[in-house]
Amino acid sequence: MTGDSALNVLGISGSLRAKSFNSGALRAARELAPDGMSIDIADISRIPLYNGDVEAEGMPEAVVQIRGQIAAADGLLIVTPEYNYSIPGVLKNAIDWASRPPEQPFDGKPMAIMGASPGGSGTMRCQYQLRQAFIFLNGLIMNRPEVMISGASALFDDDANLTDQSTRERIGTCLEAFADWIRARQTVA
Ligand SMILES: Cc1cc2nc3c(=O)[nH]c(=O)nc-3n(C[C@H](O)[C@H](O)[C@H](O)COP(=O)(O)O)c2cc1C
Repeated sequence: MTGDSALNVLGISGSLRAKSFNSGALRAARELAPDGMSIDIADISRIPLYNGDVEAEGMPEAVVQIRGQIAAADGLLIVTPEYNYSIPGVLKNAIDWASRPPEQPFDGKPMAIMGASPGGSGTMRCQYQLRQAFIFLNGLIMNRPEVMISGASALFDDDANLTDQSTRERIGTCLEAFADWIRARQTVA
């Protein structure tokens, strides 16, 4: 798509937890998307552990599905926790499966990343590790604004809905920049 046509963004949460702060932040992003952007949320819970023997027999259906969703999206938004200063296994596993040839769908894909943590660092170490992985995959992650949500326990309600207004505004601002980022990449494509 080019110009001012509607932007279809795929959102992936790096947490499978029912009351995940990160899934809550992704739901908030879906609500806060600017005019002309819609965000669909992917399900990575059915993706099996990566196994080259399984791959040799054919991509599992859940992998085929997410690869197709990523390929079809104008942009990819990852909202993820940080585990042990790094990328959660369920998310890395999904990325590894989706990255397999032929035609790995991250190549040239406009991307944005966000993360929420009850601690003080707001997932920054995980975010920089994601950026490193996507150098190899040529996923085009927007540099700024960064959204690192620290102290998450005070910002979400009991159902992990994001209630903090300033954090919602930061997400909205990031998504406006992301729309510009996607359109700029489409212009040069
Ligand atoms: C295995 C594991 C490792 C964790 N490591 C970190 C970490 O390195 N940095 C951090 O800020 N929080 C860490 N945490 C705490 C998570 O940020 C916290 O559980 C958070 O709520 C997970 O995100 P979610 O609410 O979206 O599920 C870790 C949690 C788990 C289960």
